[in-house]
Amino acid sequence: EQGATEEATAVAHPNIALIKYWGKRDEDLVLPRVDSLSMTLDVFPTTTRVRLRADAAHDQVTLNGAPARGEALRRVVAFLDLVRERAGRAHRAVVDSENTVPTGAGLASSASGFAALAVAAAAAYGLDLDATALSRLARRGSGSASRSVFGGFAVWHAGPARGTAQEADLASHAEPVPTGDLDPALVVAVLDAGPKEVSSRTAMRRTVDTSPLYESWAASSGADLAEMRAALLAGDIETVGEVAERNALGMHATMLAARPAVRYMTPATLAVLDRVLRIRRDGVPAYATMDAGPNVKVLCRRADAGQVAAALWEAAADGTVLVAGPGPGARLLGGDG
Ligand code: PMV
Repeated sequence: EQGATEEATAVAHPNIALIKYWGKRDEDLVLPRVDSLSMTLDVFPTTTRVRLRADAAHDQVTLNGAPARGEALRRVVAFLDLVRERAGRAHRAVVDSENTVPTGAGLASSASGFAALAVAAAAAYGLDLDATALSRLARRGSGSASRSVFGGFAVWHAGPARGTAQEADLASHAEPVPTGDLDPALVVAVLDAGPKEVSSRTAMRRTVDTSPLYESWAASSGADLAEMRAALLAGDIETVGEVAERNALGMHATMLAARPAVRYMTPATLAVLDRVLRIRRDGVPAYATMDAGPNVKVLCRRADAGQVAAALWEAAADGTVLVAGPGPGARLLGGDG
């Protein structure tokens, strides 16, 4: 029982990948096929409190005040089991999570959610983990959560394709990415905040298993990452944006070619993509990326974000537009939070 605080609260922010994580090589350990790179945002934090309960027979989980059930509950319990196994403790827990991002809308609620849960659960169960170990742990809840452990830009290493499972597990974590003079913003066009029809988990598996385009995208993604890292270091937002846009469109192409096809883009998505081209033609560097949902996130300079947001408002019809900057890594809140 030593070292356990019995209760801990953590906050984490979502991240948006500029080089995408798409496809697993090990579903159980959540080992990705490709390296990915993201920016952690300064909006939509998730705050999660974990309290150990000596007398409880089951974990009790609430998400935004409502009891979690089904798959959402199963994933949190499986994650807590992993923490309990490492900590050598059997206590069940009460988990309360407040999420400010629309859940399941392709805005990475699972990233902030599992990053916050990893940090809070590790502390509550008395595991003393550094950021690298927390990233590795968060990965097991949701791959993209490994990156939200860190603030700013982070790269998540896929780890060696060969070797033991233990070697792969150890190597697959995120770490901060050095950048040059870059004052970036992501302008988010929320086009449909409803839950998605195909989960990213299902879509990834189907793509890897059936898409004839998957292997070529995965291969080109390595080159995209190298180019992206150099552009970030050089503070070259045009190249960062160009590479991010082609990497995301390529990922969506792999899904469109899956059998049956997975299509997250809607007419509203395409209207916003058209607008991004127009913004660029008007001389403002702005580049789109999309995840497992219809929403579009547009990378631009902070100084141009107001102008980009105004243009997207026009194109986004019934949607909402907001501007995010680089945000902090996951952290424990002091006291009782
Ligand atoms: O972490 P997951 O399993 O929700 O996967 C997220 C995958 C994408 O958001 C589509 C891409 C990424 O790298 O975040």
